[in-house]
Amino acid sequence: MSLLLERKSVRQFTDKVIEKELIDKILKSAMQAPSAHNQQPWEFIVVDNRELLDKLSLASTSAWMLKNVNIAIVPLIIPTEASPHFAVQDMAAATQNILLEATNLGIGSVWIGVYPLDERVNHIEEVLNITGGKHPFSMIALGYPQYDKETKIRYNSKRVHYNKLEE
Ligand SMILES: Cc1cc2nc3c(=O)[nH]c(=O)nc-3n(C[C@H](O)[C@H](O)[C@H](O)COP(=O)(O)O)c2cc1C
Repeated sequence: MSLLLERKSVRQFTDKVIEKELIDKILKSAMQAPSAHNQQPWEFIVVDNRELLDKLSLASTSAWMLKNVNIAIVPLIIPTEASPHFAVQDMAAATQNILLEATNLGIGSVWIGVYPLDERVNHIEEVLNITGGKHPFSMIALGYPQYDKETKIRYNSKRVHYNKLEE
């Protein structure tokens, strides 16, 4: 099955710790993402401290799964001059690469939305001491999945148009 179809949001994890080499592979994949002007407007904080993960789980009501993992990656969007308007899209590509490489390695993941919601951004900046015009873009909880999830195909031909939208 294609890697793309295998990827699903995983929110229930086992206690097994992810090996450091695998986290390195995931970070390398993140930095292979395409970016406008190849500006690479990113840095990454790897969080494996229990107390910090618990605090991050309070960033929003939909970040609770950080309580169930031993490790998370927080991509930071950093100031760039080359193509700042496209930096958000670059960050989404990097986040997706993290999810796909995790899937490739048999690791479960879920993308937790952060940027540009002030409440979430401010909470995470305070917990992780993020300054200097850098901001958390997303959080990715990582761990070994507790169970397999079925793939549901979402293809919908009504969402596809050739050349122009029909009148
Ligand atoms: C920008 C973005 C923000 C998301 N935020 C959250 C979140 O805060 N908490 C969560 O549990 N899932 C979050 N998700 C995961 C989506 O809920 C999930 O991708 C969607 O339901 C489709 O399910 P799948 O990932 O299993 O295919 C987010 C996904 C994206 C792309």
